[in-house]
Amino acid sequence: MTKEAEGQRRLIVDQFTRQAVPFRQMPAHSDRDAFRLVLSACQLKPDDLVLDVACGPGLTACAFAEVAAHVTGIDLTPAMIDEARSLQWEKSLGNVAWHVGDVTALPFPDAAFSVVFTRYSFHHLLDPGTVLAEMVRVAKPGGRVVVVDVYTSSPQQAELYNQVEKLRDPSHVRALALDELRSLFESAGLTGASTDFYNLDVSLEQLLGSSFPSAGDADKVRQIFAHDIGTDRLGVSARRVDGEIHFVFPIVILAGRKTSGTAVRTAGSDHH
Ligand SMILES: C[S@@+](CC[C@H](N)C(=O)[O-])C[C@H]1O[C@@H](n2cnc3c(N)ncnc32)[C@H](O)[C@@H]1O
Repeated sequence: MTKEAEGQRRLIVDQFTRQAVPFRQMPAHSDRDAFRLVLSACQLKPDDLVLDVACGPGLTACAFAEVAAHVTGIDLTPAMIDEARSLQWEKSLGNVAWHVGDVTALPFPDAAFSVVFTRYSFHHLLDPGTVLAEMVRVAKPGGRVVVVDVYTSSPQQAELYNQVEKLRDPSHVRALALDELRSLFESAGLTGASTDFYNLDVSLEQLLGSSFPSAGDADKVRQIFAHDIGTDRLGVSARRVDGEIHFVFPIVILAGRKTSGTAVRTAGSDHH
């Protein structure tokens, strides 16, 4: 493993060990309208075998388990998997399994799942293309591969957005542009890709309350957001609601299908 990859793993586990409980509790992450859109993009059926990649505290995995035959969740951060287990018990779900592991090389055989899903993970990955290729590898021919994440809309907006997100959460790597996400789907051989969108509305203070920036950086983030009101260079529609700053993460749901002819790229290989 490269030094950069090792460092990123450390940042992820450090941040998400601390974020696990507040992340699970943040209402925006269990927003019903967003869940409805995501479930519809996955076209879940009762006989589906689902993999939730970088599942965090199991919010989406447990929602899937209420419909599908079985759901497997995998995440690098053990504290997130502890939260996922506790949510599973609260919901009395017997059809879920959890794994602690790095999604860069998924520890599952080829064609094991009919739906392979990930939410809010790609912007934390050094190499989202490799993870998408792994997702395609473990999907059955005919299976759905679905990625939900924040996206950027111009190089200038991306630069500022990524800068402020790194200040708020040092494990942030880079939010991809919509076109980049679409090209990743194409390069991965996924067909019939559909896109859907929603805005994830959050209060800045609530988000900072569940984030763990380095000392002094929370105030820098507050200042950048306050200056962005009315100009929207960040692309997140920052505004004041009852004196508090609110903004939206623009979210895309990309869903594609693995056809029987889709070439499979294994982790670490470059050939298609
Ligand atoms: C923002 S959270 C999203 C959690 C969940 N998918 C959700 O939407 O509720 C990002 C998650 O990605 C996980 N993660 C980041 N990089 C990972 C990697 N290389 N392998 C496995 N999990 C990873 C983190 O541990 C964290 O739980």
